[in-house]
Amino acid sequence: MNDPRIIVALDFPDTQQALEFSQKTTPQQCRLKVGKELFTSAGPALVEALIDSGYDVFLDLKYHDIPNTVERAAAAAARLGVWMLNVHALGGAAMMRAAREGVESVAQRPFLIAVTVLTSMSADDLQALGIETPLPQMVERLTHSALDCGLDGVVCSAREVPALRASVGQSALLVTPGIRPDWAAANDQQRIVTPQQALADGASYLVIGRPVTQHPDPAEALRRITQSIS
Ligand code: C5P
Repeated sequence: MNDPRIIVALDFPDTQQALEFSQKTTPQQCRLKVGKELFTSAGPALVEALIDSGYDVFLDLKYHDIPNTVERAAAAAARLGVWMLNVHALGGAAMMRAAREGVESVAQRPFLIAVTVLTSMSADDLQALGIETPLPQMVERLTHSALDCGLDGVVCSAREVPALRASVGQSALLVTPGIRPDWAAANDQQRIVTPQQALADGASYLVIGRPVTQHPDPAEALRRITQSIS
């Protein structure tokens, strides 16, 4: 079965650029992540077009709202035919269980994962919110809460993978951004890990953006990464 580990972050501003990119690569090489910027500009029609051309789509909208709203949004995403979607674990257990109900409204449900603590947040940021639990414990606690609510896994930074994999066992999905092949620029990512290292540490899927999307030959960039992990 074709199960590419690479999810390309389609961080483009509009439909045209996203579709142009999708024609340079293949669904055998990668899956595609559609986030808030692109979805807000291009809408569900783009997601349908990508799915129609054979791609698995990770809809990265990080739902965080009252349970009823999140259930309905998750059901709508599932009806759209996405392969994976996510919610904020900080929305709470009832919200995550509702999201799970939502995705189950279709016969072939998408994977449902949670964001724990945004990697843009520091320990000081958590404290400023009144959260006294140290950051690593907070990530672990929210991860277990997500799994207890029937979610399939979490988004986590590549640096969090070894500890989380040890704590959650083999079946949970760990989807990790902050990945850089050794030939690529770090850009604004602070703590990067190579694709080989992230998979060796126990990552399930790698979210990779600019090293592929900004490469003059994206298919070649994907071939190099795939070769390095196979
Ligand atoms: O271009 P780059 O590989 O840095 O893109 C990484 C993608 O993963 C972006 O879409 C970014 O928003 C997302 N992401 C991240 N770090 C997180 C969560 C998501 O870089 N902690």
